[in-house]
Amino acid sequence: MNQDDKKRAAAEAALNYIVPGEVLGVGTGSTVNYFIDRLADLRDKVPAAVSSSEASTERLKAAGIPVVDLNQVDGISIYVDGADEVTRNGHMIKGGGGALTREKIVAAASEAFICIADDSKLVDVLGAFPLPIEVIPMARSLVARRVVAMGGQPTYRQGFVTDNGNHILDCAGLDLTDAASVEAEINQWPGVVTVGLFTTPGAALTLIANSADVERRTNK
Ligand code: A5P
Repeated sequence: MNQDDKKRAAAEAALNYIVPGEVLGVGTGSTVNYFIDRLADLRDKVPAAVSSSEASTERLKAAGIPVVDLNQVDGISIYVDGADEVTRNGHMIKGGGGALTREKIVAAASEAFICIADDSKLVDVLGAFPLPIEVIPMARSLVARRVVAMGGQPTYRQGFVTDNGNHILDCAGLDLTDAASVEAEINQWPGVVTVGLFTTPGAALTLIANSADVERRTNK
């Protein structure tokens, strides 16, 4: 089974968790794209979705799923999204596609985050994947200097502007052994919109596809 087959398998496993009649939260990325494409056959179960990016919004509409503004809904039962790295207890690095801020917002509005991924994303400790941080453009250098002071090496994602009009710093070399503390620390720096650590909370359920099957793990 190649990586795309595994992404598809993880995405299909998440279809079982859709709550019929309830608004669905939808993430961004190549793994979630498989999930969105399957929603075309489930239009009777999914009245609407809240999307985490312009790209997913377009794809949802193409699948015939109405996309609603988060402000129009009281709550979301499940949020389905991929990850750039995920640990067995559901802590994640996200934002490789630059959608981390809206992803964190929709995830926060949802009762349960379901992380879908192929097994190449599974890690013991986060941090081999450079940590994305979305910053207000005028604060880019300020935040970059703080990342360096923390032991990291920030790289400005040249030529990329987020859906919110901001910039991304991809930060290698950070010690993320205590990822929750790093998330809390970076979150409160002036100019930071969102740090791509998703630990508090992380995923309530991880669906990780390997060559043989999809491993399901529930996290407290
Ligand atoms: C988007 O900003 C990211 O958080 C994605 O969810 C993450 O990069 C996973 O994407 P893939 O499914 O394409 O690997």
